[in-house]
Amino acid sequence: MEKIAHGLEGVVVAGTHLSHVDGERGELIIGGFAVDELGPNATFEEVLYLLWHGRLPRRNEVDDLARALAAQRSLPPATLSFLRSAAERNLAPMDALRIAVGTLSLAVPQANGRRETQVALAQSLVARFPTIIAAYSRLLGGEAIVEPDARLGHVANYLYMLQGNRPDPDAVRALETYFNTVVDHGMNASTFAARVIISTRSDMVSALEGAIGALKGPLHGGAPGPALDMVFAIREHAASSGRIIEEEAEVWIRDALARDERLMGFGHRVYKVRDPRADVLGAAATKLFTGAGDRQLYTDARTVEKVALRLLREAKPERRLDTNVEYYTALLLHGIGLSTGLFSPTFAAARAGGWTAHILEQIKEDRIIRPSSAYIGENHPRWSPLEGRI
Ligand code: ACO
Repeated sequence: MEKIAHGLEGVVVAGTHLSHVDGERGELIIGGFAVDELGPNATFEEVLYLLWHGRLPRRNEVDDLARALAAQRSLPPATLSFLRSAAERNLAPMDALRIAVGTLSLAVPQANGRRETQVALAQSLVARFPTIIAAYSRLLGGEAIVEPDARLGHVANYLYMLQGNRPDPDAVRALETYFNTVVDHGMNASTFAARVIISTRSDMVSALEGAIGALKGPLHGGAPGPALDMVFAIREHAASSGRIIEEEAEVWIRDALARDERLMGFGHRVYKVRDPRADVLGAAATKLFTGAGDRQLYTDARTVEKVALRLLREAKPERRLDTNVEYYTALLLHGIGLSTGLFSPTFAAARAGGWTAHILEQIKEDRIIRPSSAYIGENHPRWSPLEGRI
């Protein structure tokens, strides 16, 4: 029988110009730049241009792109009306985002075979992710929706629509670093889902909906909320038991591992060393928590991380489990003032840049993704009629 590549581990399914993940060396290249160069220095508009056009933009090009994105932020009435009903039913934010993105088919331009029309479509979709997420977050909180402000950049405007006041420049820089850092990451599950869908010559909106569905799971983009919940739970237990955080983390994590639970924010399919994005976000979080934020939470999270790494090594000596991007995502986004329910949708808003770039690449490749399976079921010699079955 053929060898089955469970989880497609190690299977190379596409050539890409977008990003390169070196799991052994712990390196990530996005659009030709190391993530620690790109993350803290670029604007998200520059990164989008880089991924969509394959080179860094000149001043006028990035200004044009920023204007085009800003001009397309508002939502069609049907999307707003859906978000209102979803908030009444308290739908999970990732589900609301997935369905709302589907309704954008009512508003976005039609694309044909020409690349410019596909890029224009990508722009108009990526432009609206933050508006959907912010509007939904405010509706869930019983607050009035904040209209987008075209004078603000993509990321600053997202924070403005979420929080309703002029965003603090340090918070914007931290969030922009986050967006840049997670914008693309090789053939991850949600990107693969998007590429599979578009490879059938389906449409970009469908591909994005599929990607959001894949990102939502706790083994992928759903991890940062639970990662922070773990730190909060350990702090609460410590407060009631009188133990210091390090001791409480030891008890809590040992218990979790004994129950065969996975620690969220640790381990990665590709990285066998520390996820380089954890360092970029860790540095951004350090800056943010030094300037403002809950410094004690940051210190406690570092303590929990140290204990988790030690106990993971002890529990799984044959595996190389290290901190992944989600652990510091949780800390950074919390430090910026985002609630845990916003972590995965914010990841989606950033990753939409990578998804659309991969979709454009796959459209160009124009070959349906259709792997094979090995049949491991039974073989019956004859059909058995209903009456004779036992
Ligand atoms: N905590 C405890 N044990 C773990 C963890 C973890 N975080 N991660 C892997 N393991 C264990 C598994 O239980 C398994 O043990 P076993 O062989 O005794 O059954 C073994 O290590 C599997 O390890 P891998 O083969 O390296 O893991 P895989 O490639 O299947 O999964 C994944 C990778 C899904 C990320 C996993 O490490 C995990 O579940 N981590 C927690 C969730 C998380 O943080 N997800 C975000 C990933 S980053 C991103 O998607 C943006």
